Amino acid sequence: MEPENDDQYVNTLFLIEDLKDEITRLQTARQTLITKIIIPGNCSSFKTGFRKSNRKLRAHKNKIILLTMSTHLLGRNTFGDVANAGNLMPVEEAHQLLNEWVPNDRLRLHMKQVAAVMKAWATEKEQADELTARKWELAGLLHDADWEKYPDDHCRVIVEELERRDIDPEVIHCIASHGPRYFGVEPNNIMDKMIYVFDELSGFIHASALIRPTKYDGMNVKSVMKKLKTPSFAAQVNRDDITDAIARINTPLEDIIQFIIDHQKDVQ
Ligand SMILES: [Fe+2]
Repeated sequence: MEPENDDQYVNTLFLIEDLKDEITRLQTARQTLITKIIIPGNCSSFKTGFRKSNRKLRAHKNKIILLTMSTHLLGRNTFGDVANAGNLMPVEEAHQLLNEWVPNDRLRLHMKQVAAVMKAWATEKEQADELTARKWELAGLLHDADWEKYPDDHCRVIVEELERRDIDPEVIHCIASHGPRYFGVEPNNIMDKMIYVFDELSGFIHASALIRPTKYDGMNVKSVMKKLKTPSFAAQVNRDDITDAIARINTPLEDIIQFIIDHQKDVQ
């Protein structure tokens, strides 16, 4: 029941106004009913539809998107069991899970790229030991594993799956906090903060590479920075999230972009 015309969008707008208090009250218990009324597909399809609608509605865009996002809130801040600390799945098993849950090649590549960048950062910048670097890698590899199959339950499904498999709680928390505005879980440690930093930027840089004749070869930070300031390029990438994520760490955006280019260019 996706809204088909502007009238339906207007009705949706009023519906959201009516439901605002209720949504706030129910934030801790996910309301799939509300998700279905407001946005039957996923957030990006809603935004796509929205761009086609009229100026009056666009003026309310931020409010609507914020409220629809609220339905993804996980409603808790602790994940997994501390008794499972150090318990990771072999990387082959993680790839198998990806192959089963994520038919989309590009989305699988996105997760592999984030995993490679996470692992490299842990090793090169945090001097992490092997086990810790594997945690960073696993979080990157599975952070969007449920996005394609369960768009309305994104993040909750993979979090619960990893809890069921007795995976290290830090890995699960890292995945749960990779979009604080959407899932309502704040990044705590440097691993959490870096997945938040890398997630949108990695996809953005890959999109930038794809439109270049030489792809990653000769790509520089300046051109990526310029594209970030061009709202129409990769419009689905939320620049506010990037700004927020970068503000939480002590590394300049330019250095992060260079690090991502260097470490994801050869991932296949
Ligand atoms: Fe992602």
